[in-house]
Amino acid sequence: MKRVMILGVGAGFGLALARQFGRQGAAVVMVARNALKLQDYQDQLADEGITATWQAADATDFVQLAQLFKDENEIDTLIYNVGITTPDDPIHTDPHDMEARLRANVTSAVAACQSFLATAHPETILITGGGAALHPSPVTTSLAMSKAALRSYTLALHTAAAAQGVYVGLMTIQGIANVGPEMAPDRVAAAYVTAAQQRSAAEIFYPGGVPSKTSEFDQLKQLAADPQQRAALLAAHPEFAKYQKYLK
Ligand SMILES: NC(=O)c1ccc[n+]([C@@H]2O[C@H](COP(=O)([O-])OP(=O)(O)OC[C@H]3O[C@@H](n4cnc5c(N)ncnc54)[C@H](OP(=O)(O)O)[C@@H]3O)[C@@H](O)[C@H]2O)c1
Repeated sequence: MKRVMILGVGAGFGLALARQFGRQGAAVVMVARNALKLQDYQDQLADEGITATWQAADATDFVQLAQLFKDENEIDTLIYNVGITTPDDPIHTDPHDMEARLRANVTSAVAACQSFLATAHPETILITGGGAALHPSPVTTSLAMSKAALRSYTLALHTAAAAQGVYVGLMTIQGIANVGPEMAPDRVAAAYVTAAQQRSAAEIFYPGGVPSKTSEFDQLKQLAADPQQRAALLAAHPEFAKYQKYLK
């Protein structure tokens, strides 16, 4: 855990991961497409006394990915955190859009893991999964499809990479960011640090340690039942406006 690359850094879990691994003394490399935002995160972390660097790259562009891992040959820990979570539905979503989401959420993770395993001394891979893998719903069709596929890939890789001494773990996040104290991004990110230190479980169910009986979609519906919370949800996520019928 000396040099950690977080692939897919935004203001949510990605930035919290950079903060938590940085606090452990790791040299953190943040990767996303938007250089301006990455510079802003670097500045925010510097204000907190945490040194992090960044590289702008698109995970779905495999040429850029290959170059990224060539440039960052010394990382020992990779976190694949990219995830397109926008709502969609099984009847109207264009299959090309679904394909693009599957590429970002799954195939690009495969490409990143394979490139990382070919670097100088890979030790740990953590992949951000989601409870949607276990609880498909109409509003999260592509997300559920892709997290289920990502889960299968990660569990297969856990066994295959162990033969090379590389630990691979899937962090199955069963909730919505900032809904409840356990879903505070810093607390979620702290669970990744623990997983990277323990290097054992193929899958970590967060929070709770076991598969949740309810889905993130159920949580969304619960939020939407309260008019105030529904308004706040739609203000923060206007993309849900056209799916309100599913939230009843
Ligand atoms: N948020 C939740 O409630 C929740 C719940 C359960 C699981 N999750 C999972 O947690 C992960 C992080 O979610 P988050 O909402 O907290 O995200 P985040 O860390 O705030 O942001 C992720 C960042 O990934 C970057 N990204 C997207 N496509 C990319 C690409 N092709 N190449 C490189 N970077 C790319 C985006 O930045 P650029 O636009 O700058 O590239 C985005 O800001 C996802 O895998 C998600 O499925 C989230």
